Amino acid sequence: MNANSTLFDTYQLGNIQLSNKTVMAPMTRSRSTQTHIPTPIMTDYYAQRAGAGLIVTEGVAPSPNGVGYPRIPGLYNQKQIEAWRPITKAVHDKGGKIFAQLMHTGRISHPLNMPEGSIVMAPSAIAASTTKMYTDQEGPQDLPTPKEMTKSDIKKTIEEFAHAAKNAIEAGFDGVELHAANGYLIEQFISPDSNQRTDEYGGSIEGRVKFALEVAEQTIAVIGAEKVGIRLSPYGAFNDINPFSGQEETFTYLAKKLGELNLVYLHLVDHSDMGAPEVPRTLKEEMRDAFGNTVIISGGYDRDRAENHLKDGLGHLVAFGKPFLANPDLVERMKQNAPLNQPDFDTLYTPGEKGYTDYPVLEMSEV
Ligand SMILES: Cc1cc2nc3c(=O)[nH]c(=O)nc-3n(C[C@H](O)[C@H](O)[C@H](O)COP(=O)(O)O)c2cc1C
Repeated sequence: MNANSTLFDTYQLGNIQLSNKTVMAPMTRSRSTQTHIPTPIMTDYYAQRAGAGLIVTEGVAPSPNGVGYPRIPGLYNQKQIEAWRPITKAVHDKGGKIFAQLMHTGRISHPLNMPEGSIVMAPSAIAASTTKMYTDQEGPQDLPTPKEMTKSDIKKTIEEFAHAAKNAIEAGFDGVELHAANGYLIEQFISPDSNQRTDEYGGSIEGRVKFALEVAEQTIAVIGAEKVGIRLSPYGAFNDINPFSGQEETFTYLAKKLGELNLVYLHLVDHSDMGAPEVPRTLKEEMRDAFGNTVIISGGYDRDRAENHLKDGLGHLVAFGKPFLANPDLVERMKQNAPLNQPDFDTLYTPGEKGYTDYPVLEMSEV
């Protein structure tokens, strides 16, 4: 890796050129309609942050069955495609690039949050018992026991991911990120806690990663490998997923197989500063080397740590979550070493513009 690389250099990601090496990390903000259609304030929010080299959107449901949370957007119907178009256009008009994060929530869901007729399903009929799900109607609720997916459910769900990816391209996105982290459906297959299947989608490492690889393969078949990235969270501790024995082998094997499919990037999550166990640096390096293409590193970065990790070769791009949430002009601020706004945690998931599109940019905060 280029020893002189810096955060503010351009970067060639597959067929697109990024204006710098910062990535806006995917962040659910729950500003869509009750029927999961993106809203005009989302255009402002993403356009304000188009200075990122690459924006990865909030988690977007690829299927009505994957809508676990209230007011998250989807990409499974025509209305949603139409509503995303002004968002991707606004980002492109400002010179930015944008991938949609496809997030199927699997068992991390509640029927009150889901469209009528949809089903909470997962690899095994095991509820996430340590987590609650917020609902607009009745506040926090226990999570239901999911339906164990049949082979035909699995096939259909993989097709839904591929179809949503096609929709994403139709809506103007530069690509998609498969959300295989943080305890959602794809990781529910990877982890033996949530996957106790005895068929070819469970058991061995090869079995537990089969769903992830098939989703990747079929998505690539529809939109091309240069438009498909994936997010993984080894040592994940969110949504009732725990570190498991053999996980280093599992994630290194998966990274190698994803590299063979030639995915455009691997986005590595390390949530140790949010309470998860730290991902050992050796595992990050092993996954990077096994994968072979672009690696995005994320979790608790500021400018200096990002520069250091780019220079020492841990990753090629660095994602910033909360810093982008609270600083639409994060790149400019980091360039100038200017102070950062802090996020307002009370408005992370509330409807409306407050705490969403009203964070000040540099000139405004200086007056
Ligand atoms: C409000 C909020 C919502 C998030 N939603 C998502 C999400 O939809 N998908 C995802 O992969 N990660 C999600 N994350 C995790 C972030 O992408 C990121 O990994 C995390 O904030 C750590 O990075 P940071 O220290 O730069 O904030 C979310 C984080 C926050 C703060």
